[in-house]
Amino acid sequence: MGTIEKIAGPLVVARDMLGSNMYDVVKVGSGKLIGEVIQLKKDKAIIQVYEDTSGLRPGESVVTTGLPLSVELAPGILSKIYDGVQRPLDSIEKISGSFISRGIDVSPLDKKKKWKFVAQAKKGAKVSENSILGYVQETELIKHYIMVPKGVNGTIEKIKEGNFAIEDEIATVKSNGKTISLNMIQKRAVRSPSDFKNKFASAEPLVTGQRVVDTFFPVSKGGTAAVPGPFGSGKTVIQHQLAKYSDADIVVYIGCGERGNEMTEVLVEFPELLDPKTGKPLMERTVLIANTSNMPVAAREASIYTGITIAEYFRDMGYNIALMADSTSRWAEAMREMSARLEEMPGEEAYPAYLPKRLAEFYERAGKVESLNGKIGSITIIGAVSPAGGDISEPVSQGTLRVTKTFWALDQALASSRHFPSINWLTSYSLYLNALHGWYLKNRGEEFPANRRKAMSLLQREGELKDIVQLVGADALPDSERVILEMGRMIREDFLRQSAYDLIDAYTSMEKQHVMLGMILYFGKRAEEAVKQGVPSDKIVTMKVRADISRMKEWKEDTVASQSKKLREEIDSAFNSLIKEEAIAAKNQ
Ligand SMILES: Nc1ncnc2c1ncn2[C@@H]1O[C@H](COP(=O)(O)OP(=O)(O)O)[C@@H](O)[C@H]1O
Ligand SMILES: [Mg+2]
Repeated sequence: MGTIEKIAGPLVVARDMLGSNMYDVVKVGSGKLIGEVIQLKKDKAIIQVYEDTSGLRPGESVVTTGLPLSVELAPGILSKIYDGVQRPLDSIEKISGSFISRGIDVSPLDKKKKWKFVAQAKKGAKVSENSILGYVQETELIKHYIMVPKGVNGTIEKIKEGNFAIEDEIATVKSNGKTISLNMIQKRAVRSPSDFKNKFASAEPLVTGQRVVDTFFPVSKGGTAAVPGPFGSGKTVIQHQLAKYSDADIVVYIGCGERGNEMTEVLVEFPELLDPKTGKPLMERTVLIANTSNMPVAAREASIYTGITIAEYFRDMGYNIALMADSTSRWAEAMREMSARLEEMPGEEAYPAYLPKRLAEFYERAGKVESLNGKIGSITIIGAVSPAGGDISEPVSQGTLRVTKTFWALDQALASSRHFPSINWLTSYSLYLNALHGWYLKNRGEEFPANRRKAMSLLQREGELKDIVQLVGADALPDSERVILEMGRMIREDFLRQSAYDLIDAYTSMEKQHVMLGMILYFGKRAEEAVKQGVPSDKIVTMKVRADISRMKEWKEDTVASQSKKLREEIDSAFNSLIKEEAIAAKNQ
């Protein structure tokens, strides 16, 4: 047992700590606050404390648990809301009202609830880490597989079936002559990634229902995306949209260091939301980790690890996980604060020199893998970054961009003009387009990637022309170029722009995205031909059918096929009559 020597904010120095290890979890003071050993010097330990340390006094005791910071994993974890070190926050007051009672050992999971365990492994089978023993149907869609914990290697001696609480024995394993009793709980240390057999490149996108993402800048299942943007540019909203609508099996949402009211929004909103595909509450597939700006800074540093470890656990069962972290800048700031208190040598902008390494290690835990039990699952990480003033030359943005492959550049100017999502189409990119090409061909045909290329080149042409217009005015442009400007506007307004708050517009299927962009490009093709036949561009710009094209956003998914047929006919007849009028006018001259 050690003794507190000094307290400096979230850091505590304790002596007589021989026998404890780096990263051991310790109970600090008479209040038994949770802390973690982050430096050992002879008999002295420096401990970061995950709770408010006010009231703590030198001389109080420190006891090591001998275990690293871990999460507890078992049925009942879905739809839970935790703080950064996996303590349950089951009411909103506990978030906005800031405190969980300190030092109280609250269990992250319900230990009394009984679950129906269905055995799948047989007596006599050889098992090791993550071998599947059976499952609990935790929600209608998710079978929660019960896997053998790390370190257990042997033969099943006995396996039960029936209703059990998570601490009840469900199987025994004979290992080196010893019998080990297993229940439904796995504990995983959060700071080290879990093992798997193989990692592969993924050839399937995370379908998000967000048009600018799915059509132009997709992220693969198992991929990584960075969302940098200044305050108010829509980082949180896009993360919410993905948490709601992406086709992941399970969502882990880490609210990291942002203001309490943003997290409260999530907490009020999410439990009421239904999955648009299944009609089930969205929380049934979600785990929320909330560490708001008013909560202890060390727990914020831990929240990222807690979240990714929960994600890995479900990945090992063969599920596709989407993990959002909002915001990784606040996580990096927590690192910076702890580092400064430790008086470490500061790196760029006073962040610790190991910041880039920590960022890389975090995103490294994304990926599509074959887990030790043979199941294939994935973790997609989408990390928001909040650089001051939106200037991404700072260390957190740079460290993130180096290791992520999709970049959604949120743009202040777009946000100010209420163009949402404010993803800048000229500076954003996805390095997954090649890997996903086959998927798009198979699922949407050749036209889809061709449309993407056409639309992108129109947007780029529009960008160039706008520069020229600034110099010489639109009147100087020939009709053919004015049509391009108009096409750019249509792609932006009628396709890229998507409201998060309109129930129909908020989610667009791939099929509908295909139709929408195809329709706009079809209009463009007819417009180009019409100009060649002498129709002036003003007449095209003011065509009434344009309004109906804008209204595609309002189409319900199940009416897309019939409405698109009608709209195409409408476009044809509108152009046919324009061209006819023009021909008559020409003859009469
Ligand atoms: N897709 C969207 N549709 C409509 N409004 C949006 C959208 N994205 C962002 N907004 C608006 O922008 C505001 C700020 O977005 P938010 O995500 O909170 O910014 P950030 O997290 O970058 O500070 C929102 O409150 C909302 O009014
Ligand atoms: Mg935000």
